[in-house]
Amino acid sequence: MVSKQKEHAKTIAVYPGSFDPIHNGHIDVIRRSVQLFDEVIVAVTYNPHKDSALFTPDERVEMIRDVVHDLEPRARVDKFSGLTVDYCERIGAQVIIRSLRAVTDFDYELQMANMNKQMKPSVETIFLPANPKLFFSASRLIKEVASYGQRVPDLVPEAVMNRLRRKLKIE
Ligand code: PNS
Repeated sequence: MVSKQKEHAKTIAVYPGSFDPIHNGHIDVIRRSVQLFDEVIVAVTYNPHKDSALFTPDERVEMIRDVVHDLEPRARVDKFSGLTVDYCERIGAQVIIRSLRAVTDFDYELQMANMNKQMKPSVETIFLPANPKLFFSASRLIKEVASYGQRVPDLVPEAVMNRLRRKLKIE
């Protein structure tokens, strides 16, 4: 029989991504993840030498905080540059969360998970299937349609949509 553990070690999970910008698919993953782990760190990744993102790392962090602040302190937001596994080690995280929208995501995600495992065997990658209602959410497409002035209220929170319009100078 499995006995109850005397000491419950805190499980910290990192949900890394560009989040340029965060959309409802990401938010759904964050909300589900806080049910599974003691702490979820939503971590904006950036490369200080070649970052082609629309929003700065700080703007992305701010936007995420705006939309998931009700989940604090179970969910916290941070940013890092460098390898995800190094960041996990620095903050003591045991798990990387990634979401799969379709089978086309799988190849790249599996490669990344295996490479991360190779570099840091103690860190596990967990895949969460994207919510089927939001599976087509993709920051790249959201930016594209927003650049033509199209609102996508089902895909991004209003605060993010407003930031997108300001950034893209759409009145
Ligand atoms: O959701 P995204 O934007 O496609 O996220 C990709 C991300 C940020 C998870 C990936 O590029 C990453 O982990 N970047 C940090 C650098 C790193 O660890 N690269 C090696 C992966 S094997």
